[in-house]
Amino acid sequence: MNQIVIAIDGYSSCGKSTIAKELSKILKYKYVDTGAMYRAVTLYFIQNNIDFKNIEEVNKALDNIKITFVINKETLIQETFLNNENIENEIRVNPRVAGFVSEVSAISEVRRFLVKQQQEIGKQRGIIMDGRDIGTVVFTDAELKLFITAEPNVRAQRRFEELKDKGKGTTFEEVLANLTKRDFIDSNRADSPLFKAPDAIEIDNSKINQVEQLELIMKLVNERIGLKA
Ligand code: DC
Repeated sequence: MNQIVIAIDGYSSCGKSTIAKELSKILKYKYVDTGAMYRAVTLYFIQNNIDFKNIEEVNKALDNIKITFVINKETLIQETFLNNENIENEIRVNPRVAGFVSEVSAISEVRRFLVKQQQEIGKQRGIIMDGRDIGTVVFTDAELKLFITAEPNVRAQRRFEELKDKGKGTTFEEVLANLTKRDFIDSNRADSPLFKAPDAIEIDNSKINQVEQLELIMKLVNERIGLKA
């Protein structure tokens, strides 16, 4: 079977990781959530009071960071570990992580550190990676590049419900404000800003459901696998 690289980029809370997980199950490909890696670095910086503006301090901190993904045997869901500690829930619900992650991911040293690891993991192909710069920086040669979008209100509502389900007291307005701010910083930073690669296929999922979206993407995946045959 010809294994390809699937790069999924797009704005915050567009459902990129949901799509990536579904594809990874169907295709039996490895899945890498690069947003989780930036969140893990952010959590480490917060926990250890690292001054983001001090590059020497940042570099020293990066030397002490090991990020791994482990499949939970009960739920079969992949979880993120920082220096052997499970931080999956913390990086999703801690508002300080959501508040600082765009600032941390704008630091070139942090990006270089994580991009190198992402390229190493994807060397063997048979991988689905989601983030903001996968098709434009990490895997410019990916056989399939998707750029996922949805209207901001739709995305904020989905994220708000997700946080509510996890028992996090927040308001729709707060979620929308965080999302809008992150999109702005992610799209306007100097190093590897978020933009649609010229050869990426854009999918706006505001008005289509998950089944329709998956059908559309699977058609593209099968085409690309066929082309490699
Ligand atoms: O996908 P996410 O919301 O978990 O990502 C969290 C933040 O990490 C996002 O606001 C921008 C940053 N990020 C990035 O800069 N590059 C990536 N490849 C993935 C995420």
